[in-house]
Amino acid sequence: MAKVLVTGGLGFIGSHTVVELQNEGFEVVIIDDLSNSSIEFLDRIESITSIRPLFEQIDLRIKSKVKTFFQTHSDLVGVVHFAASKAVGESVEQPLLYYENNLVSLINVLESIQELDQSNFIFSSSCTVYGQADILPITEDAPIKKAESPYGNTKQIGEEILADLCKINKDLKVISLRYFNPIGAHESAKIGELPIGIPQNLVPYITQTAIGMREELSVFGDDYPTEDGTCIRDYIHVVDLAKAHVVALKRVLNGQNISNLETFNLGTGKGSSVLEVVKAFERVSGQKLKYRIASRREGDITAAYADTSKANSELGWEAELTLDDAMRSAWKWEQELRKNS
Ligand code: UD1
Repeated sequence: MAKVLVTGGLGFIGSHTVVELQNEGFEVVIIDDLSNSSIEFLDRIESITSIRPLFEQIDLRIKSKVKTFFQTHSDLVGVVHFAASKAVGESVEQPLLYYENNLVSLINVLESIQELDQSNFIFSSSCTVYGQADILPITEDAPIKKAESPYGNTKQIGEEILADLCKINKDLKVISLRYFNPIGAHESAKIGELPIGIPQNLVPYITQTAIGMREELSVFGDDYPTEDGTCIRDYIHVVDLAKAHVVALKRVLNGQNISNLETFNLGTGKGSSVLEVVKAFERVSGQKLKYRIASRREGDITAAYADTSKANSELGWEAELTLDDAMRSAWKWEQELRKNS
């Protein structure tokens, strides 16, 4: 069985990807430092797939630990690299922490992966690299805008590191996946998003409001130049996103990649406004959501949604689940999570 390392494999997107990799017959080893995830997710993954992934708690910033790991797992056929910090506001407060967490870890993994017989690497990037794109929907060729935050900058620099390395190492095969807005949870409601403290992202804020943990949702601005005045994003179900990682990994394993560094947008191709997301939640939950219009959030862009034609035609992947599916699963997950509290 082909063995794959998933770094950050107990996190939100990571755990869903582990499930999909196992469903497709891969043996998975997870590295996670548990800084923003729970060890319980190992049991939860096992309860979905009936297979317990191997697990090592490693801080990827420590080069010697990474080296030792790769020496003991020299039979890996690929790495899916999620491990990173992702809170935009925190990155502004603690830039060095973000550059260290996100880039030192990346460098350490890349150094080790080049020693393997097969160096296949799937990178978690973000649509944040486009900033407010001039043309919508956003294609992979859209210019990279100056990052709004250290977090966003780590994704841009990460992509640049990969590009420089791929130029001199043709045996290294990289696919960089630029996610739009991942939401939702596994249909089993056994894994999902676990925000620490007050959620910064829209959907967990909605579900926590509905369950009574938050007073009301603040809709950040209704005076944007969009149909209903609220911002537009491309919300993609995390299970669709997870499946794209399996497809990308198989592409490099089967030598179907056109160059040794490829980039794909992962979104649905459809933009939804904040109020449309609220309505979708109300539709699938049968509940009214308490919200008020608040002022704009600094750093927010008006609209971003993906042109997914490259992923459709080259990867043969497209999002299958709808916004309603995602909101239904997010709500089911929130209810499951708070069942005993
Ligand atoms: C945010 C990050 C982005 C990161 C992504 C990862 C910021 C500015 N951007 O994207 O860099 O890659 O998460 O998931 O933090 N909203 C509300 N009320 C809320 C929360 C959000 O109205 O309480 C609105 C926002 O204004 C935005 C939309 O909901 O229009 C989505 O927000 P969010 O889930 O935070 O995602 P992004 O801002 O797109």
